[in-house]
Amino acid sequence: MPEDAITTSPESAPDTPGAQAPSAPPQVAAAVQVPPSAPPPVATIATLGQHEGQSVTLRGWLYNLRESGKLLFPIFRDGTGTIQGVAHVKSVPPAVFEALKGLTQESSVIVTGKVRADKRAPGGFELDVEDIQIIQRVPESAPYPITLKEHGVDFLMEHRHLWVRSPRQSAILRIRAEIMRAAAEYFDTNGFIRTDPPILTPAACEGTSTLFPVDYFGDQAFLTQSGQLYIESTALALGKVYSFGPTFRAEKSKTRRHLTEFWMIEPEVAYCDLDGLLELAENFLSHIVQSVLKNRASELTVIGRDPAKLQAIAPPFPRITYDDAVSLLNAAHKTGALEQPFEYGNDFGSPDETWLSSQFDRPVMVHRYPANVKAFYMEPDPLNPNLALCVDVLAPEGYGEIIGGSQRVSSYDLLLSRIQQHQLPQEAFEWYLDLRRYGSVPHSGFGMGIERAVAWICGLDHVRETIPFARTLHRIYP
Ligand code: 4AD
Ligand code: MG
Repeated sequence: MPEDAITTSPESAPDTPGAQAPSAPPQVAAAVQVPPSAPPPVATIATLGQHEGQSVTLRGWLYNLRESGKLLFPIFRDGTGTIQGVAHVKSVPPAVFEALKGLTQESSVIVTGKVRADKRAPGGFELDVEDIQIIQRVPESAPYPITLKEHGVDFLMEHRHLWVRSPRQSAILRIRAEIMRAAAEYFDTNGFIRTDPPILTPAACEGTSTLFPVDYFGDQAFLTQSGQLYIESTALALGKVYSFGPTFRAEKSKTRRHLTEFWMIEPEVAYCDLDGLLELAENFLSHIVQSVLKNRASELTVIGRDPAKLQAIAPPFPRITYDDAVSLLNAAHKTGALEQPFEYGNDFGSPDETWLSSQFDRPVMVHRYPANVKAFYMEPDPLNPNLALCVDVLAPEGYGEIIGGSQRVSSYDLLLSRIQQHQLPQEAFEWYLDLRRYGSVPHSGFGMGIERAVAWICGLDHVRETIPFARTLHRIYP
């Protein structure tokens, strides 16, 4: 509280007991002590608007420093944003000016200053520096390696532990956190129970070629590729469930969409068919995008993402069959928009998905793929058993698949024959077969890779910037 708000005069304190007793002896008022001036409140850059005209203390780092003779323009960051400070040799104590002058990038500082509104400033405010305490000064002899000049991606990935400090990377991580929060919120507020599947598993879920083996006390185990099979079990126990955790794929692919370790959120719903699943997917994705627009608008500005492209993301999403998609691709090939002709029966390649998804202003839901390009657990379409009751949701602007899901085989006999056809070890799937032995019901679910969603929502070229520490074919450091 500013010192001048404290008064000993009864006239200006009409609500005090003294005001109701005008004859109160003056020594009561005189007994009120003026406390020593309170230190400025500790604030964050994101909330400086609440402190306009006041002195505040920020705890952070020096992001950059411009010097022009008697004027210093330090830019501070504190994890919530950046703000430019101003220190004139005549307006700050000499020790403060000296400490700030020549201060090195990423030195940690506690800085006090007065918040001043400035329309030209990116966040709307500047800080008139009053005091500074250097917590650790980065020595000139070993400067911070990431300067403000351009660096190559390899160099930045090698220094990812520091790169995450840059305003752009921090903004992406904040948006990622909001996407994860909103995704969980959607399920939490719509009657889903979070059930966490194991990460160490005895068998494959999404195909045996992309498993990471683990030595499990002499037995072979694997890192999970998806929680799906386990949450089918909890869905039949609890009705509507979801899982949210890391998943692993030993993908040898070196594309802008593939990580070997990524986070997946997966709902699974008993008594839900493919149509119900499509509705769930469009409502879920729309909720996430609208939450980011509402809660991370300034971060979208920092990374230069045009919100107009995201505002359109609302149900209903277009639904096309695999067959429709193939016709579109073939037409595109005829006009020269696609290099390769598409062969019916294949799964879509990256260029196909990129082209398809760029034809719509919101995610497009492609359903009913040929069963033989999809996983063993997918329910066949009763109208054409060569097709699977499945969906891939392709994000717009060429981002491609962000969600994959399906209705699940509910018949015991069919599931058993699928397991045999795919040459999966039946013993490992006995528990999964039990779900069809005891009270089997139609049920459906999908998985969304968080990093693919972040790449799309942030408009990034590559998933490596969507996760704090990306794991890819050639990178497991830092
Ligand atoms: O399409 P996928 O393989 O489906 C499953 O794993 C199902 N068991 C999910 C389910 O039905 N519960 O993977 C789901 C999503 C993809 O759409 C994609 O977003 C992401 O997971 N994904 C990856 N993300 C990054 N790197 C990879 N290598 C990925 N593989 C899949
Ligand atoms: Mg898929």
